[in-house]
Order: sequence, then structure tokens, then C-alpha cells
Amino acid sequence: MRRRMHLAAAILCVALVLPLAAAAVGKATAAAPAAPSAPPNVTAAMAKGGCKAFAALIASSPDAASTYASAAGGGMTVFCPSDDAVAAFAPRYKNLTADGKASLLLFHAVPVYYSPGSLKSNNGVMNTLATDGAAKNYNFTLQNEGNVVTIKTGASGAVARVKATVLDADPVAVYAVDRVVQPVELFKPAPSPTPAPAPAPAADAPKAGKGAHARHRAAPVVADAPGPDADDAPPADQKKDSKKSSAAGVLRSRWFAAALAAVAVASTLA
Ligand SMILES: *[C@@H]1O[C@H](CO)[C@@H](O)[C@H](O)[C@H]1NC(C)=O
Ligand SMILES: *[C@@H]1O[C@H](CO)[C@@H](O)[C@H](O)[C@H]1NC(C)=O
Ligand SMILES: *[C@@H]1O[C@H](CO)[C@@H](O)[C@H](O)[C@H]1NC(C)=O
Repeated sequence: MRRRMHLAAAILCVALVLPLAAAAVGKATAAAPAAPSAPPNVTAAMAKGGCKAFAALIASSPDAASTYASAAGGGMTVFCPSDDAVAAFAPRYKNLTADGKASLLLFHAVPVYYSPGSLKSNNGVMNTLATDGAAKNYNFTLQNEGNVVTIKTGASGAVARVKATVLDADPVAVYAVDRVVQPVELFKPAPSPTPAPAPAPAADAPKAGKGAHARHRAAPVVADAPGPDADDAPPADQKKDSKKSSAAGVLRSRWFAAALAAVAVASTLA
């Protein structure tokens, strides 16, 4: 009789604990965020769409590559300069520091998905992946002129025009542009309407005697530029994402604790 009671208790215990533990484990798995469908391979799409050189530059900058990869999941629009544009810009690009290069590359994407239609109806200042939220730097102005979408900055470089849709796969869009867009943080600002007394052309075309002076004037624009540290200041969306995933982590560990408690309770009952 006693033995039978023990056996019954043991069966009851197993019957109680197993479903409880299984339920807890099941819920823990359910609470974990569903694996997001893989975002499109943006650099591969760029390379196919006439921006092979720009894709290669991103691949060669670890900071830029990792930020592009993580931004793709949260919505992103890339304006990739054509191979011709990158080739024409190569001497100026080479002159940048590694930070400057990463900033320039990140400057060509915004952390929002714009379909071809919404791109045409969104005029104004846009933050980029290079923007440090607190400093509000590294922005450009998107403008529709007639049927053409243009990108301008405060730097003296020419306006870039959107030439083609390379990829439109919500939440990622890639458009090819005909020029490298120059952030005012890295390149000489456009001459202001009320020119300063000093003759500006010296910096662009240094003469033999004035070269050192011109270099001296031009250098700080690059050297002093507060290159945003991609690690220090991730775009807002990335911060949200990391908050989300740590919340999921907390949830997961709560369910694990609940499962342990259920097992503990069940065994004290037995
Ligand atoms: C994307 O494509 C490039 C080249 O096609 C490849 O080197 C890279 O590994 C791919 N990245 C991912 C995340 O699949
Ligand atoms: C590169 O930097 C040097 C030194 O600051 C300058 O003299 C030269 O003009 C720059 N070249 C280009 C293409 O910007
Ligand atoms: C855009 O960037 C410039 C230069 O860094 C800055 O002065 C300006 O406040 C920014 N504008 C906006 C709307 O963020």
C-alpha cells in the first residue's frame, strides 16, 4: 500500500513537473523575437547596380561595413555614387583619414526607408548614418527639382542627382547618384554670399610660393572634423534595437527563472 502511494506520488510528480517545465520552455521560446527574415545583401545589390566601387569602399572600411549591415534591418535608404563618380573622387577620398572615410561612406545612407514614390515627396534636411544625434552634423538636403531628386550640402562640391533605382526591397532602398556627396564637416564649405576679405582661390590652386599657406588653411577642415565615432554614437534606430534585444533577454531569463521555480515547487509538493 505504502509503496503504491509512493509510486502514485512519483507519477503525479512527473505528470506535474514535465508539463510545467515544457510549458515554461515553450513560452520562453515563444517570447524570443522571431528570427527576422534576412535583409537583402546591400553591397551585393550596389555592385550589381553600377556602384561596384562604392560597395568595395564600404567593404574595406570595417566601421562603415558593420554600420551598413546593422542599419539594413531597421530601414535604410542608400544613395550610392556611380563607379564614374567614385573614380573622379578618388584623389580626395584618399586624402581623408580612416575616420573621415568611414564618415563619408556612412554619409551616403539615411536610417529610413524611402520608396521611389516617397523619395519624390520628401524634401528637406535628412540625417544620415554618419550623424551624431547630439551634434546634428553630417546632414544633407534632399530636394525635388522638376522630376529630378537632388542632394545638396553646405560644401562647395556639386549637387548630386538620383539617376536610378538600384534596389527597392522594403525596408531597404538603394538609389544610384551621379556624384559623391560631400559633407561640409569634411570638405570646404561653399563660398558664402558675403565673401571674406581673404582671397579664397588660394586653397584650390596653390601657387608655388603660397603652397604651404594654402595647405595650412585647407588641412584643418579635414584634420579637425569631428569624425563621428560609429561605435560611440550609433544611430537612434540601432539604440532602439539594442534596447529591444536586451528586453527580450530579460524576458527570456524571467521565463527561465519561472521554469526553475515550477520545478522547485513541484519537487517540494512531492
Ligand atoms: C554580400 O555580398 C558580398 C559580395 O557579393 C559578399 O562578399 C558578402 O559576404 C555578402 N554579405 C552577406 C552578409 O551575405
Ligand atoms: C590632399 O591633401 C593635401 C595636403 O593637405 C593637399 O595639398 C592636396 O591638394 C589634397 N588633394 C586633394 C585631391 O584634395
Ligand atoms: C545640419 O548640419 C549642420 C552642419 O553640421 C548643422 O549646423 C545644422 O544644425 C544641421 N541641421 C539640422 C536640421 O540638423
